[in-house]
Amino acid sequence: MSTALLVLDNVVARYGQIEALGGITLEVGAAEAVALVGANGAGKSTLMKCCMGLHPCASGAVRFQGEDVTRRPIFARAVMGIGYSPEGRRIFPGLTVHENLLVASRDRDGGRARAADIYDIFPGLRIKAAALGWALSGGQQQMLSIGRALMLRPRLLLLDEPSLGLSPLLTAEVLNRVKDITAAGTAVLLAEQNVHKALSVSQRAYVIQLGRVTRASTSAELLASRDLAGALLGM
Ligand SMILES: Nc1ncnc2c1ncn2[C@@H]1O[C@H](COP(=O)(O)OP(=O)(O)OP(=O)(O)O)[C@@H](O)[C@H]1O
Ligand SMILES: [Mg+2]
Repeated sequence: MSTALLVLDNVVARYGQIEALGGITLEVGAAEAVALVGANGAGKSTLMKCCMGLHPCASGAVRFQGEDVTRRPIFARAVMGIGYSPEGRRIFPGLTVHENLLVASRDRDGGRARAADIYDIFPGLRIKAAALGWALSGGQQQMLSIGRALMLRPRLLLLDEPSLGLSPLLTAEVLNRVKDITAAGTAVLLAEQNVHKALSVSQRAYVIQLGRVTRASTSAELLASRDLAGALLGM
């Protein structure tokens, strides 16, 4: 059996009659950054939801740290060390930045200490600690969403479309943190529309098309493809 941190073994997922994942097999190693790239509707978000337990696997298995977690509930996976920053961020608009972080912790003192670490990773959040969620810019909300997902010190961060709605400058700023996060020991599985940037901050990549892996390679190799767009579309 693979010793990778996360393993998806032939995962199938459906929405009613629609097959969103048609048998996905992939792995993420410890402290590795892996990009998931593919067109809209390819199944990237569904794949992440299956990892977190937010969407059921119709068949196949999800293993984390060697344990089969396919049927485990969301909170059990969070406690085991899977963090999730969803597409669209989903921060609490009526809570302050600091409260948004603390609600994701298990106890208040540990939460305060960990929030201080998060402010070190994202200094822009520290100065906004008392601001309400709704009053943050898109980039700040994204950093808060990532910070919240890091509160329980996950071994793996599922990061879904962090650049959605951000300017190119902010996109670069947010995606550059992926390297800091992996350097601190947390692996990252990154779904991202900004393919060039995603490939430049990851070590390996999977191309997903209509719920299947059509290419698996190093990010550098995919980035150097003469026809990157063609590779993404399977041409
Ligand atoms: N709640 C849902 N009900 C029905 N079908 C869904 C639902 N969510 C996703 N799908 C379908 O499942 C497939 C995969 O969608 P998914 O959101 O996982 O793709 P994605 O790669 O994340 O796309 P995007 O780049 O737009 O975020 C698509 O055909 C989509 O229409
Ligand atoms: Mg998506």
